[in-house]
Amino acid sequence: MSDTKWRVGVIGAGFIVNYAHIPEFQRLDGVEVVAIADLNRARAEELAAARGVPHVYEDYEKMLAEQQPNIVVVATPNIFHQPMAKTALESGANVLLEKPMALTYADAVDIVETAKANDRVLTVGTHYRYAPGSLAARHQADEGFFGHIYAARAVMHRRTGIPGFGSWFTRKELSGGGVLLDLGVHALDCALFLMDFPDPVTVSASSFSAFGPRGLGLGGWGSDINKVTDAAKQFNVDDLTWATIRFADDRVLQFQVAWASHGADQIFTELYGTEGGARIDADEGLKLYEDLNGAPVDIAVPLPNGDGGTYRPLISNFVDYLNGDASAHIITTDQALLSVKIVDAIQRSAETGREVVLG
Ligand SMILES: NC(=O)c1ccc[n+]([C@@H]2O[C@H](COP(=O)([O-])OP(=O)(O)OC[C@H]3O[C@@H](n4cnc5c(N)ncnc54)[C@H](O)[C@@H]3O)[C@@H](O)[C@H]2O)c1
Repeated sequence: MSDTKWRVGVIGAGFIVNYAHIPEFQRLDGVEVVAIADLNRARAEELAAARGVPHVYEDYEKMLAEQQPNIVVVATPNIFHQPMAKTALESGANVLLEKPMALTYADAVDIVETAKANDRVLTVGTHYRYAPGSLAARHQADEGFFGHIYAARAVMHRRTGIPGFGSWFTRKELSGGGVLLDLGVHALDCALFLMDFPDPVTVSASSFSAFGPRGLGLGGWGSDINKVTDAAKQFNVDDLTWATIRFADDRVLQFQVAWASHGADQIFTELYGTEGGARIDADEGLKLYEDLNGAPVDIAVPLPNGDGGTYRPLISNFVDYLNGDASAHIITTDQALLSVKIVDAIQRSAETGREVVLG
C-alpha cells in the first residue's frame, strides 16, 4: 500500500513550478506530485517528463475530478487565481496559491471565505519572508532588540526587469497591475512580517509607467516574450510604484518598488526601532544597528546559507501544518489579506492622486 498522504496537483506549468514547487513537494515524505494541468499541453508534458509527474491535463477541472489531489498549487496568470483557487478548495483540496492572491481585495476575501466554508488550508506564495536575513531579523524583533519599531522601508528596485512585453504580466486586464502586483506583494509581506502585521489606516501612493510604454526596461523572466512592435499597446501597468503607509499606532512604512528605473538594482528592508535598527539586504545580509554605552555600533549577523532557497521553507511549513503541526510557520490568510488590502489602497491612491483612508 502506498504511504502517500498528500497528492499534489499543479495548475500552470511555468518556470517557477519547475524550479520550485514540484521539486520542493517531491522531496518531502508522504507527498507525491500526481498531475500537472496546463492549457499548453506540450509545456505540461515536457515538465511532467522532466520531473517524473505521471499525469497531464489541459483542463484543470478534469484533473481535480480524476486525480482528486488534496493539495493544489495554483500558478497561472493572476486573473485565474480566484476562480481556480475557489474551484480547487471546493473540490476538497488545500491550496498553495501563487502571489498575488487575486486582482482585487474583494476577490481575495471571496477566496478566503471559500477556504473557511470548505474547512481547507489556503496559503500564498510570498516566500521572500523566509530568507535567512528576514527570519533572523524577526528573531531579533521577538527578542526585543529593536524596542518599538516605528518606521520601516521596503525597497525592491530593478534597473531593467520588466517581464516580456505582450505577456500577461504587462497587461492589467490579466495581471491586475505591474510591479506592484509582482514584486510589490513580496516587499509588502516582508515588511509587514517584520513589523508584526500592523493595522493600516492611510495610504498615499504614486505609480508611473515610465519605461514600459516606450519599450524600455525589458528584463525578461516572464514567458512568452514577444518582439516589441508596439510597446504602448502591450503595456498598461505600473513600472514604478512608491507609497507611504501609516498604521494605527502611528508607525510608518515607506514602500518603493520598480521593474525598471535609472538606478541601481536593490532589494532591502530597513527597520527603525527605539532601541535598535536593521537593514536586511538581499546581497549583503543582515546588519543590526544599536547604541552601545553611547557609541553607535553596527553588527553584521552571520546567517545560515539558506540551502534550498525560500520556497523550501514555504512548502515544507505548509505540509508540516497540514500534518498537524500548528506551530509551523505558514503564511496565513489574515496576513495575506492584509497585504492585498494595502495593495488595493495603493492602487486607488495612485489612480486618484489622493490619500486613501482605511476603515
Ligand atoms: N512567488 C514567486 O516568487 C513567483 C515567481 C514567479 C511566478 N509567480 C506567480 O506564478 C504565477 C505564474 O507565473 P509564471 O511566471 O509561471 O507564468 P507563465 O506565463 O510562465 O506560466 C503560466 C502557465 O499557466 C498556463 N495557463 C494559463 N491559463 C491557464 C488555464 N486556464 N488553465 C491551465 N493553465 C493555464 C499557461 O499556459 C502557462 O504555461 C503568477 O501568478 C506569478 O505571479 C510567483
